Amino acid sequence: IERTLSIIKPDATKRNLTGKIVAKFEDAGLRVVASKRIHLSLAQAGAFYAEHAARGFYGELCEFMASEPVVVQVLQGEGAIAKNRDVMGATNPANAADGTIRKEFALSVGENSVHGSDSEASAAREIAFFFSGLELVG
Ligand code: GTP
Ligand code: MG
Repeated sequence: IERTLSIIKPDATKRNLTGKIVAKFEDAGLRVVASKRIHLSLAQAGAFYAEHAARGFYGELCEFMASEPVVVQVLQGEGAIAKNRDVMGATNPANAADGTIRKEFALSVGENSVHGSDSEASAAREIAFFFSGLELVG
């Protein structure tokens, strides 16, 4: 059974949307097997998004992710990585399909409410970034 890392981003925690977003995951058949609310430091956000370090929006992205608390979660289910990305919708909410989290809640391509791992390799790295094995309760 597959696992993926989800982050409910600062624009969403700030607007009290955590519960509504978790409901979307659960309605899609994803199970929350680990969850915590944390406030990332700028250095932690930078390390998490290191793969984007060369992109023009990297500084803005890291400052945004460290601006308010986030909720980091491990979601489990059949094909959880792809299923989570389906539920999230396109990166830019203008392109996101109806019913997706980003269509309903995202404010812009930057403040887009959720993060989800994009491959098995990134899911493994990102889960280990935030959680120890003992914290995953399937
Ligand atoms: P994540 O699940 O957050 O990784 O989103 P993604 O995989 O749909 O997008 P990608 O990995 O390409 O970009 C990572 C994140 O960088 C996005 O979710 C956005 O928050 C942010 N981002 C991407 N493009 C832009 C941009 O043009 N401007 C700004 N400010 N942020 C961007
Ligand atoms: Mg990505």
